[in-house]
Amino acid sequence: MAAIRSPRILVADDQPDIAEALRLLFKAEGWRVEVAASPQAVCEAVGRDEFDVLLSDLNYTRDTTSGQEGLDLLARIPALDPTLPVVVMTAWATVDIAVEAMRRGARDFIQKPWDNARLLAVVRNQIALRRALREGERLAAANAAQRGGGPVLVAQSPTMRPVMEMVERVGPSDATVLITGENGTGKGVIAAALHATGPRASRPFISVNMGGLSEALFESELFGHVRGAFTDAKTDRVGRFEMAEGGTLFLDEIANVPLALQTKLLRVLEGRSYERVGSSRTQQADVRLVAATNADLRAEVAAGRFRQDLLFRLNTIEIHLPPLRERQEDIEPLALFFLQQQRARYRKEFTGFDPAAIVALRAHHWLGNVRELSHAIERAVLLASGSVIRAADLGLAAARDAAPRLEDMNLEDVERFLIRQTLARCGGNALKAAEQLGLSRSAFYRRLEKYGL
Ligand SMILES: Nc1ncnc2c1ncn2[C@@H]1O[C@H](COP(=O)(O)OP(=O)(O)OP(=O)(O)O)[C@@H](O)[C@H]1O
Ligand SMILES: [Mg+2]
Repeated sequence: MAAIRSPRILVADDQPDIAEALRLLFKAEGWRVEVAASPQAVCEAVGRDEFDVLLSDLNYTRDTTSGQEGLDLLARIPALDPTLPVVVMTAWATVDIAVEAMRRGARDFIQKPWDNARLLAVVRNQIALRRALREGERLAAANAAQRGGGPVLVAQSPTMRPVMEMVERVGPSDATVLITGENGTGKGVIAAALHATGPRASRPFISVNMGGLSEALFESELFGHVRGAFTDAKTDRVGRFEMAEGGTLFLDEIANVPLALQTKLLRVLEGRSYERVGSSRTQQADVRLVAATNADLRAEVAAGRFRQDLLFRLNTIEIHLPPLRERQEDIEPLALFFLQQQRARYRKEFTGFDPAAIVALRAHHWLGNVRELSHAIERAVLLASGSVIRAADLGLAAARDAAPRLEDMNLEDVERFLIRQTLARCGGNALKAAEQLGLSRSAFYRRLEKYGL
């Protein structure tokens, strides 16, 4: 989501003392305030800049109280900024004019002399609404851009064939999908591809990093909250489930949800309904679910760290992404794909890779998978000069030391390397590693000793 900038408010009043009082009030909130003293000045400002809200008086000429100037102004705003919320201010005697203003599109009104707390509450509310609207527009635009088939997936290797078939087969369904695979293997792109080929492609695709949610924020982030639900809940907030309404909700890093919160999540997934924090109104969750993790969820279940029933809720269909080192045939096409992307971005003219660079790319161990490859290409595009990327531009040497090439090793090197790798893969569990290597316990321990591991 875009960084939150401070709200920008346009205050329209012809009386300098009132405008100044309002300016100080909003400035104290940390908002940016602009003042306009006439309907003409208001239109100029709205045409020139983007505001979150317009607070407008209804009378601009001394001794008029009809409100007609304000009502005329109101009619001109939508042409300049169709989503700009307008709050009108009016004196005691003219509440009926305020009502007329509401009928003509004002979102709210304030009586003069105003009560600071109420004024701030009204304005804040409009700002929050406007931002939610804008976010919705942005998402719709992002989705529209994506509708033409979704993200580009480069996958030519035989290892990726079952993955692509699965995406084609389950994408158009509404099935819940669990995507597994090491870091950087493309779980995020697969999730986006599932959404883009599915029946909800024209609706939002909302991604939430479940690992990044603190216990305190979990419910409010996912389900939203109503103003006053807790101390910091100053306005209503739309949760991720609601944002994804009708579309796809992508629960990324699902293994990192603490057990207590897994229970809460499970309840929602089972009932397909939830309440905003602080509200008793039950809302339906009409979303397609896609989840992803780099962990082995079955092992997590066995270790008591992940609820089995939650796993069963999520893995109706499971798509496993193989690591890049098992997709040799994809390395060159991916490298070319990233080269095209990055040279456009950095306005460089590279035509391709020299042969040694291709050899280096294929030999590299890619522990960071596709993401590491894309970063390597980006770095090379940035730093290299000339018409082709050379091996040296890729800067892969350091990482290669960590994963030596088979041709450069003797038998003992290979054994040591294999044992170390297997141990790492088994999370240091020697019994499991021995089993995977087809060694007896004692044979395995002898080797550990021999290699000082
Ligand atoms: N098959 C592919 N074709 C094109 N680009 C890809 C492919 N796979 C991955 N990428 C790109 O590589 C980068 C990493 O992919 P992504 O973020 O989807 O990985 P991930 O598995 O979600 O990683 P993590 O576990 O770290 O979240 C992204 O920029 C993505 O667009
Ligand atoms: Mg990811």
